[in-house]
Formats: sequence, structure tokens, C-alpha cells
Amino acid sequence: MTSGDVRVVGLGGSLAATSASLAALDAALDGAREAGAAVSRFSVRELDLPHYRPDLAAPAQVEALCDAVEAAHGMIWSSPLYHGTVSGSFKNAVDWLQVLAQRGVPYLADKVVGLVATSGGVQGLQAINTMEFIVRSLRGWAVPLVIAVPSASQAFDAEANIVDRSVAGQLVGLGAEVARAARQLAAQGTCDYSDEDPAPGR
Ligand SMILES: Cc1cc2nc3c(=O)[nH]c(=O)nc-3n(C[C@H](O)[C@H](O)[C@H](O)COP(=O)(O)O)c2cc1C
Repeated sequence: MTSGDVRVVGLGGSLAATSASLAALDAALDGAREAGAAVSRFSVRELDLPHYRPDLAAPAQVEALCDAVEAAHGMIWSSPLYHGTVSGSFKNAVDWLQVLAQRGVPYLADKVVGLVATSGGVQGLQAINTMEFIVRSLRGWAVPLVIAVPSASQAFDAEANIVDRSVAGQLVGLGAEVARAARQLAAQGTCDYSDEDPAPGR
């Protein structure tokens, strides 16, 4: 594949008007874009989704999200750490990806997903770990590099601009890795995270 052929969809942020996790997502998407990906971004706040219900027809914004995800080669997820895990609104947005099951698309099969969390303290990996379980259940490939931003009030200013240049660089690096892995998986049908090279003779 050539540059620009790989598509990466970002999903995240909180319901807060000024969201550190959304800013983190944007930084990671910048990295994917700089690495040649075409990117699109879905903010949990802007999606403004009802609770997932099996008997509720998917709202238009869910259809748009699922269209984008279906056409994508990779995703980047970013959630705040809420009470030791992902936020309810982020999980609800992911629950709506259930729509992909009815389209004959096996969820996130053959897509790579980069994971980001922001937290007030230092336990952001708990949200990352939860997200990794979700990615696996959706048959996706979680990129091994993950970014859990601790002490968000220091890493971001009151307008959610990233003030910690090191954090910004890490997020850009994650976006670039998602683009690289997505491109490799799309072009070769495998990626560095697969076990396509068993021992000789097997
Ligand atoms: C309801 C709620 C629960 C939170 N729970 C935790 C937590 O368990 N651990 C932690 O370190 N920070 C916690 N925080 C802080 C957020 O993770 C942190 O401020 C995050 O960067 C917010 O992201 P946002 O600006 O995108 O909303 C919590 C914040 C809220 C509002």
C-alpha cells in the first residue's frame, strides 16, 4: 500500500466540554496523519449516543461511525480513567460497534487498534488493560505500544492543550505505529503482532 491508502479512525474523549482524552486522541491522530494515514475522528461527546439497546435502531451517528470503522485499517481509542476503568460513555460508544455484527463484518477483524488513556493519578493502565480486553473480544489487534498519560492536570492545561512535550511526542509516536502496523497488515495480510512465522517444520 502507498501512503494515504491506509485509513485510521479515532474514537474517544469524554462528555466534558474540555477533554484531555480527546486532546490526547487528536495528538495520536496527528501522528497517524504524519505517517501517511487518512484519519477521521469521532468524539464521544459529539456522538451524543443513547445507551446501547438491542431493540433500538442505530442512530445516524452510529451508522456513520460504523461505516468509518468498517472502511478503516486501524483505530485509535482514547478514554479517561473513570473509577479504575474506561468511562461509561466510552464503553457505550464501543458497545454500539455491535452494529458491525449485523453487516457481516466480524467487528474489528484485520484492524489494529492503538490505546490511549488519561488519568488524574497514575493508574491509567487499568483503562488500557480494559480496552485491550475489548479489542481482543472484537477480534482486533491491539498495538503493543500503549500510552497511559498520568497526572492529566499537569500534562494538559485548562483548555486541554498538551503542555508536556514528552507526552505529545509519545502520542504522535503511537499514531505513527498504528499507521505503520495497519499498512503492514493491509498489504501483507499479517503484521508484526501475529504468529505467522512458526518454527520450521510445523
Ligand atoms: C467520574 C470520574 C472518575 C474518575 N476516576 C479516576 C480514577 O479512578 N483514577 C484516576 O487517576 N483519575 C480519575 N479521574 C480523573 C480523570 O481520569 C482525568 O481527569 C482524565 O484526564 C479526564 O479526562 P477528560 O478530560 O477527557 O474527561 C476521574 C474523573 C472523573 C470525572
